[in-house]
Amino acid sequence: RRHLLDLESLSASEIRTLLDVAQQMKELTGGCRRKVQLLAGKTCANLFFENSTRTRNSFSLAAKRLGADTVEFGSSGSSVAKGETFVDTAKTIQAMGVDWVVTRHSTPGTPHLLSRELECCIINAGDGPHEHPTQGLLDLLTIRQHRGQFDGLTVALVGDINHSRTARSNIWGLSKLGAHVIVCGPPTLVSDRWEELGFEVAHNLDDILPRCDVLNLLRVQFERQNTQPFPSVHEYANLYAMDVDRMRRAKDDILIMAPGPINRGVEITPEVADGKHSVILEQVNNGLAVRMAALWLLAGADERERGITS
Ligand code: CP
Repeated sequence: RRHLLDLESLSASEIRTLLDVAQQMKELTGGCRRKVQLLAGKTCANLFFENSTRTRNSFSLAAKRLGADTVEFGSSGSSVAKGETFVDTAKTIQAMGVDWVVTRHSTPGTPHLLSRELECCIINAGDGPHEHPTQGLLDLLTIRQHRGQFDGLTVALVGDINHSRTARSNIWGLSKLGAHVIVCGPPTLVSDRWEELGFEVAHNLDDILPRCDVLNLLRVQFERQNTQPFPSVHEYANLYAMDVDRMRRAKDDILIMAPGPINRGVEITPEVADGKHSVILEQVNNGLAVRMAALWLLAGADERERGITS
């Protein structure tokens, strides 16, 4: 494969390979801190048309940790303001000699479009509400590091499923690897489609909480709702915020995850976000490992032929 566009189209074996290589990368770089020269001479361009803290910086650092150069493109301040199209912009950056284009855009399918229009490797860093494959992979890696396997695990994705690309990538990745997935949230934010596709759908967090091994708490994406949001922030927090009281009713070894950015007091309270069950910052570190793996696996036969050595 030359592109990483989504997890829906990957096989379980391809996902396992990405996780295995990510784990190797993490160990090789001393927890994603040390630099190795596996991809020296290559260039990674970050084309971000939506805001990002974690994904953009993490791709940039992942490329640098492997010895590659980076080009940072943000739509604000660019010639997009003069009317240049998305594809022309991407082709312009490609012409500067890049090997990967990492792209984030509010429109679903934009990385798939680039994969047809450009010659280099395309990585989806989030296309609207559709998918965020490297987020899905880093979530899977974090779960696997703590639990070893997915068979027999019950993982609930809680919150704004309809607008969440993280939810979609998690749903495909987790189910392919054998976890039981529950999508949980208010009926206005959870489509019936998931039930039709065979996933468990729940609207009451308190009902499912005692049998969950992992909770992935998603942010309500008010910016993607074009009507008066329902429930309101206050109603949402009452029904779905993971707080100390709900933690008392959860399994003793529950893993608390969130893709970030987190809204403290809405989907998670500070005591839980910073508590001993939270692996939120481990997820961030694993983001580098997964992105190093994606860059490496897409980079081409020559580099892989030389093997993973420091
Ligand atoms: N989780 C995630 O995609 O975060 P950013 O929007 O900060 O990249």
